[in-house]
Amino acid sequence: MSITTGDFRSKITASTLLEKKQHQELITCLTAYDYSSARLIDEAGIDMILVGDSLGMVMLGYENTLPVTMQEMLHHTRAVRRGVKHAFLIADMPFASYHVSLREALRNAARFIKEAGAEAVKIEGGEKRARLFERMVEAEIPVVGHIGLTPQSLHSMGGYKVQGKTLKAIEQLMHDAIALEQAGACCVVLEGIPREVAAMITCELEIPTIGIGAGPECDGQVLVFHDLLGLTFAPPAKFVRRYADVGSVIRNAVLAFKDDVKSCGYPSDAESYHLPKETLSSLQAVAERKRAVPL
Ligand code: KIV
Repeated sequence: MSITTGDFRSKITASTLLEKKQHQELITCLTAYDYSSARLIDEAGIDMILVGDSLGMVMLGYENTLPVTMQEMLHHTRAVRRGVKHAFLIADMPFASYHVSLREALRNAARFIKEAGAEAVKIEGGEKRARLFERMVEAEIPVVGHIGLTPQSLHSMGGYKVQGKTLKAIEQLMHDAIALEQAGACCVVLEGIPREVAAMITCELEIPTIGIGAGPECDGQVLVFHDLLGLTFAPPAKFVRRYADVGSVIRNAVLAFKDDVKSCGYPSDAESYHLPKETLSSLQAVAERKRAVPL
């Protein structure tokens, strides 16, 4: 059964994503970190919106995703929630929010659903997270996997490097993907792995794979919204396609505002509020009388 929202577009759920894979319909996903971008993305009909912990770098200026806190993730997820009607809304569990114990991981995951309105949480890591995924599913929390280049493993990976390049690593990735599916993941993000490996995993799994730097054979694609818009400062990764140069649009608009203010070109008379005619005449009369009084 599909749930329809007020404007008759159906609400995307975990089962819709599964159906899309079964019907070979490609899935779209973008990150969002605030109300206005979430609204624009949702209204454009994107299937999934991810409040990624990439917000730490993109919105908060951290060097990597490791410092991002539960508070920061909850704050941004709430804002995104207010802008989303149709898309399946996923929140990233930040580093150290699911590493200490199953109990703490479940409590943190539940906060995303209960306090911030997320419909699923995303957790990095493969086979070693299988028990955690099972517990999430038992607790009615839909959970999305993320394997390959997992940015929270930055230090243990020794940098952001393409993963799955040796036979052993490919075998491990396949085990990871299958273990997450068996543990109840509703889909799996494949990041930074060779196209051929992503294609094999996609073929093997019944749940959808969502690729980022994993080639075109995945069941769907995700990009960081700010990468797609040209709103980031570092040189983009190989897989990023910039659909717009919004950074330049913003820079030029800000420069034009600065020039206008400095040259008295802003605001104009048309951009100013005015007194009603009668009030203006009375005010002028008062000023005239004051001027007429001899010193
Ligand atoms: O945090 C994020 O934006 C992500 C995507 C890159 C998948 O995890």
